[in-house]
Amino acid sequence: MTPLNIPEWQSLERHYSDIKYLSMREEFALDSGRFNRFTVRCEDLLLDYSKNRITKETMQKLVALANSVDMSGWIERMFSGEAINNTEGRAVLHTALRNRSNTPVMVDGEDVMPAVNAVLEQMKKFCNQIHSGEWSGFSGKKITDIVNIGIGGSDLGPAMICDALEPYGVEGMGVHFVSNVDGTDLSTALEKLDPETTLFVVASKTFTTQETLTNAESARAWFLKSGSQQDVAKHFVAVSTNAAAVAEFGIDTDNMFEIWDWVGGRYSLWSAIGLPIALYVGMENFERLLDGAHTMDNHFRNKPFKENIPVIMGLLGVWYVNFFGSQTQAIVPYDHSLARFPNHMQQLDMESNGKVTNRDGKRISYKTGPVIWGTPGTNGQHAYFQLIHQGTQLIPVDFVLPVNSHYPEVDHQSILLANGLAQSEALMKGKNAEEVRAELVKEGFEGEALEALLPHKVFTGNRPSNTLLFARLSPEMLGKLVALYEHKVFVQGIIWNINSFDQWGVELGKQLAKAILPDLKDDSEISIHDSSTTSLIKLIRELRL
Ligand code: F6P
Repeated sequence: MTPLNIPEWQSLERHYSDIKYLSMREEFALDSGRFNRFTVRCEDLLLDYSKNRITKETMQKLVALANSVDMSGWIERMFSGEAINNTEGRAVLHTALRNRSNTPVMVDGEDVMPAVNAVLEQMKKFCNQIHSGEWSGFSGKKITDIVNIGIGGSDLGPAMICDALEPYGVEGMGVHFVSNVDGTDLSTALEKLDPETTLFVVASKTFTTQETLTNAESARAWFLKSGSQQDVAKHFVAVSTNAAAVAEFGIDTDNMFEIWDWVGGRYSLWSAIGLPIALYVGMENFERLLDGAHTMDNHFRNKPFKENIPVIMGLLGVWYVNFFGSQTQAIVPYDHSLARFPNHMQQLDMESNGKVTNRDGKRISYKTGPVIWGTPGTNGQHAYFQLIHQGTQLIPVDFVLPVNSHYPEVDHQSILLANGLAQSEALMKGKNAEEVRAELVKEGFEGEALEALLPHKVFTGNRPSNTLLFARLSPEMLGKLVALYEHKVFVQGIIWNINSFDQWGVELGKQLAKAILPDLKDDSEISIHDSSTTSLIKLIRELRL
């Protein structure tokens, strides 16, 4: 099935031709109710999508498109544990991990909730033991530092959440994330740490990931300079689906926290992959995060599409990618503690929807996932916002705005918020030639000098953005936000008829790296590569110290 043949898609194509030049500025001037019309809430989270190139009719047509692909049916299939990850034959059940209502969720005839709850209990017990000092390091000292060793989904989500929830951190507890196989990452983390008080969480769904196993082995070697082999059990725990590999690595499987193949890596922070979060902010706050995500799950599952935040954001994304030809999407949190939020969103979105083959194995001829990028405001304003305002590409922006800071003793918040709002207003309104002229005259410009400068100062405006506004970045709110984007990605995957839950595109590089590794040894015969790769291997051999 290609969406291009769906009548609702074709109707959107015609509609696009009719309204592609629609001016948001004029629409705001004509319709004082535009904000109310294009605003939705999930409890205390508000989405303002009024600054988009849409009319009421656009939204009706986009919702009709969602209905035409049986979006509700797909949502139910995901929540109820059907194997919608068709290339791996797996259910997709990150929602079960935060199913706080505890209703049964069946996979292959078995309710997964008892296992989910058992691991949550195990995490709770472990956190209590660490926080109380009952579980101490080999010399009897309390654990003060957690080092999570993982990569991709086993790193980005937990690292982002720990940054964001720093104000909720348990006193005296530090958390560190090591992901890169570049030895700098591990070495710089270890420099600050004491083996007697450090706990390593080796997080890998498969427990076969080269970077993670390499880092874990080096961390163990570092530890063994102080502790003994039998002390390893007190300082290394694992999170994985693969008990055999965990045991083979030398971690006691009693100290392993289980995850399941129906948890995708980039959707796994809600599982025991979230252990560093729970150790850092406490299990209670981890559960608050789950609560928030569960609220968003219920919203997504039950709200009509015209009031459904993930559906609306997903459809708007399709509107820009497939009709306006946007290739990228910026996510800009006006909250410094969300600095890693765009990174996590990058993996979530791009590893899910960066696909060129549809669910039926056919190559597709329409655009799918955009490039996701961003950094916190206001920093981005002084870096890349020039291109968003005046560049030749149309880049929709999501502004994420918490009203209150966790650090009110330094009251910069009004300036931060003013800047966030100003960006979305400027992108929408722009500044036309008449306005620029009036400004330049006021500044004393005239004649040729004025005419020469004028075109450079014009902003075409009409550049779309969403604003997500909320009172404060609590654990619940963070849970809602992340779950919202997970579901947005899902919505788009369904419209594009792709499987958002596999990631075959990462495999080839892994295979080739394994083949190249022995070639880097000085005395080995270099295997067959293209001339560029072979020459680079030779050069590396020469340059190596
Ligand atoms: O290489 C991509 C990937 O498979 C991600 O999907 C995953 O999150 C990451 O690697 C880490 O995998 P694992 O948790 O199995 O080590």
